[in-house]
This record gives sequence, C-alpha cells and structure tokens, in this order.
Amino acid sequence: MQVTKTFMGSLWIFLLIPADVEGQCTKPTMTENAVIHEDYILTEIFDEKSTIKVKCHPGYEPTSTSPRRLTCENGQWIPRPEKFTCQKKTCGNPGDIENGIYNYLNGNEFGDTIKAVCKTGYYILGSETRVCMANREWDGQPPVCEVVKCGPPPDVPNGQTRLPLEEEYDYGQVVQYVCADGYTLLGGTVHCLQNGSWSSTLRCIVVDCKRPDIANARRIEGGSGPYRYRDTLRYECNVGYRMTNNTDRTVCLEMGWSPTLVCEEVKCPSLKSTNVIITEGGVGPYRHGSVVRYQCQTGHALVGDSQLKCGLDGQWSSDPVCLKVTECRQLSHTNASIIKGGDGPYKVNDVLEYKCPAENKMIGNPELKCQSDGRWSSDPPYCEGNSSGWETTLGVCATVFCGGVVGGGAGAYWWNKKNSRKTASAVEGEDINLNSDRDPECVIQSSGTQTQTA
Ligand SMILES: *[C@@H]1O[C@H](CO)[C@@H](O)[C@H](O)[C@H]1NC(C)=O
Ligand SMILES: *[C@@H]1O[C@H](CO)[C@@H](O)[C@H](O)[C@H]1NC(C)=O
Ligand SMILES: *[C@@H]1O[C@H](CO)[C@@H](O)[C@H](O)[C@H]1NC(C)=O
Ligand SMILES: *[C@@H]1O[C@H](CO)[C@@H](O)[C@H](O)[C@H]1NC(C)=O
Repeated sequence: MQVTKTFMGSLWIFLLIPADVEGQCTKPTMTENAVIHEDYILTEIFDEKSTIKVKCHPGYEPTSTSPRRLTCENGQWIPRPEKFTCQKKTCGNPGDIENGIYNYLNGNEFGDTIKAVCKTGYYILGSETRVCMANREWDGQPPVCEVVKCGPPPDVPNGQTRLPLEEEYDYGQVVQYVCADGYTLLGGTVHCLQNGSWSSTLRCIVVDCKRPDIANARRIEGGSGPYRYRDTLRYECNVGYRMTNNTDRTVCLEMGWSPTLVCEEVKCPSLKSTNVIITEGGVGPYRHGSVVRYQCQTGHALVGDSQLKCGLDGQWSSDPVCLKVTECRQLSHTNASIIKGGDGPYKVNDVLEYKCPAENKMIGNPELKCQSDGRWSSDPPYCEGNSSGWETTLGVCATVFCGGVVGGGAGAYWWNKKNSRKTASAVEGEDINLNSDRDPECVIQSSGTQTQTA
C-alpha cells in the first residue's frame, strides 16, 4: 500500500514535469497536412530514444527532403518536426476525348477540377467535370462527345431533296433540293445546325419581272419578256442623257430588276475657273450642247478656246484657263529689225523698238509694248517694198521704194553692186548705167532731183 502510494506520488511528479525535461518528449507539433502515425495518436509523452513514424494527410505526400521518422533525443525530436512537410499529390493525364477537350480550371493537383468541353455540334454524355483524387486518379469516367443529330430536313414547297430522305443527319450535313419546273431555287443551303434544327432559308419560287419602264432610254439587249430569274437587259440612254450608275445592265432578281437603271440628263458642272468673265451662256443648268463664251479679267491671258461647249459626256470641251500674265509671247517674224528691247522673254511693260532700212517705209507702229493682258500693244511693223538694193545680188536689178515718199505712181529704179558700193540711178524705163560710181540713191522721177542716200 505504501509502495503504491509512493508510486502514485512519483507518477504525479512525473506528470507535472515539463516536456523538455531530459529524456522525454511530448507529442510533436506537425506542419500543415502532416500527422504522426495513428499508432501514437493517444500517446502524450514519449520516452527517450523512442521513434515515431510521420505521414501526410490523404491526397498529400511528403516532400523529397522530408524525414520519415522522428526520434526523441534528450527531450527533443530529431530531426525537428518542421522538417517534415507535405505537398499535394498530382494526377496524371486524364486522356483524350474524341471531339472534345479537357479544360484545366486550376491545375492537376489533388482536389483540382477539369472540365470536358465538346466541339461545336457535339454534346456531352457523362459527367462534365472530374476531380483529382488522393489516389492520383481523376474521379468518375471520361465523358463522351456525341454528334448532334437532326431529324428529316424541312419540306420546301415546290421542291424536293435531291437524294432520298434519311432518318437522321449529323451536325453540318447539307441537304440539296431541286425545284419543280418553272420555279427558281433561292436562298442558302439547308444544313443540320448545332441545336439539331435545320437551317432553312431555301425556297422554290416563281420569279417574274415586269418589263422595265426606263425614261429616256431604249432597250438594246434582251428580249421583250416574259422575264425570269437572272434574265438580263441592256439599255441605252437617249442623246443628251446618260446612266446614273455607270452600268447599263439590269438583272431580273427575286425583288425585281436590279439595279434600277436611270437615264439622267447630261449636265456640265458649273464653271469654277477664276479670273474668267463669262460673256455669254453664263446661266445654268448647262445641258448637252450649251455654249459658254468667256474672256479673261485684266492682267490675265486666255489659254485655249474662248468658247466652251458642254459635251455628251457632261464635260466641257475645255477648261477655261485664264493665267495671270507675267510675259508676252514671242513676236511673229518681221523684216523690220529690232533696235531696242532685244530677245525675249518679254515682261509686262517691256518696250520694243523697230526700224526699217531708210529706203523702206515702215508699215505699223515702230514701238511695241508688252501689255498686262500678255498681248503686245500691236503687231510688229514691217518694211514695205522689195528688198533693199544692198541685199540684192550683183548684177540684178531690183525695185525699191524710197523711204516715206512713195506715192503718185512714182518709183525709183536703181541698181547696186554689193561690196564695191557701185550703184547707178535710173528712172523708170531707162537703162541702168552700170559704170556710175555714185552712192546709191533714190531718184524720185516726179519730184525731179529730190534724192535720198540709202
Ligand atoms: C437553332 O439555331 C438557329 C440558329 O442559331 C435558330 O435560328 C433556331 O431558332 C434554333 N432552333 C431552336 C429549336 O432552338
Ligand atoms: C449602282 O450599282 C451598284 C451595282 O452595280 C449598286 O450596288 C448600287 O446600289 C447602285 N447605286 C445606285 C445609286 O443605283
Ligand atoms: C518688187 O519687185 C518685183 C520684181 O522683182 C516687182 O514685180 C514688184 O512690182 C516690186 N514691188 C514693189 C512694191 O516695188
Ligand atoms: C517685208 O515684209 C512685207 C510683208 O511680209 C513684204 O510685203 C515686204 O515686201 C517686205 N519688204 C522687204 C524690204 O523685204
């Protein structure tokens, strides 16, 4: 009895000793999802040198560096319990689904879910989702993707299927129809849809277009009707009219003729040129054949015609162009010589001065000015009469007029020998004295002795 008492007393003492007292260990505190083997679940105090097995919760496995056992040494678990860690187990490939795929909603670890999805036109048979289990397997059975089926295709009034009907059709299958005589097949195809119905926009109808009534046009291609589907007509607009849409063909379609042909009157656009003064025909609309006359504003020169005509194409025969003048054009050739002003280009306000040989009379104005309209103030002058005697060939008699005094039928006849300046004077009807050594001169017969040196 005494012994028992003493034993009980020491047991109490033993129980009150703190855990890290040398030689004994308390139950280890494990990391998440780790547990000690169920054999020790009820043990609270472990003796020195005792060894316990540790493991993970179902669905978890020890990490590769985790120890498998813990040993109580000097009141401590060795290795330390926190060295034992657990990780989720992973599931393998769930396999392929014909006409579908698995979507991984999170991953392939214990507790994760995958979802089977079928291709368009297929539906799922079986469980859509599978969960990764503790045994590394995906739960349940793989689902099956079944093709959507359609029943017999729809009736098309006045039409029938090209092939005999079947009980069922798979998703995507197309059924072809033919129409009864005189009917036109319109619309798309008839095919089995993903919801098991048929697409059915197909129709067999009678297309009958009335004869078109197109103002200001005449038919140049195609018969006079009746018109059936896709019959084509071609029209030509009357003179002064044209098609609005660059097309002269129209086709008989279900809703009638397309496009609708319209002949509109040809009109030319308003004139938009600047610096133009319209002198005639300025008010539109400008129909085919309309004529507009115009001139340029001061300081501008006309390039091209001063008259425009509106053509059958709705275009003006030309564009009125009035260019701002900065230059006068080259002058026409003359036998008067320029003695001031020289060669071009000629700017506005430039002045040219001409001269004729003394024995010739100048016809026209000796002075020309380049005006602000790009024109010269006048045409260049020329020198009247035949070539100067000085230009004539040796031994040839020439007729000249003496400058400024021609008149009354009088003439002066003279001859010259170029270079030697040998000349002779003569009056009409007389022979020329080739041996004279006088300078060239004009002898005005009617005025007696009046002479002029050339
Ligand atoms: C099937 O789908 C088509 C096209 O998406 C739709 O027009 C039709 O109403 C659907 N049919 C049924 C029975 O749901
Ligand atoms: C012009 O013709 C085209 C086809 O050729 C058509 O699509 C369009 O609607 C027509 N436009 C007009 C204004 O008629
Ligand atoms: C010019 O000379 C020709 C002969 O070469 C003559 O017939 C003609 O009358 C002359 N004209 C004038 C205007 O003198
Ligand atoms: C000068 O030209 C004019 C006109 O072209 C002509 O009539 C005249 O005979 C010519 N005079 C001379 C001198 O060449």
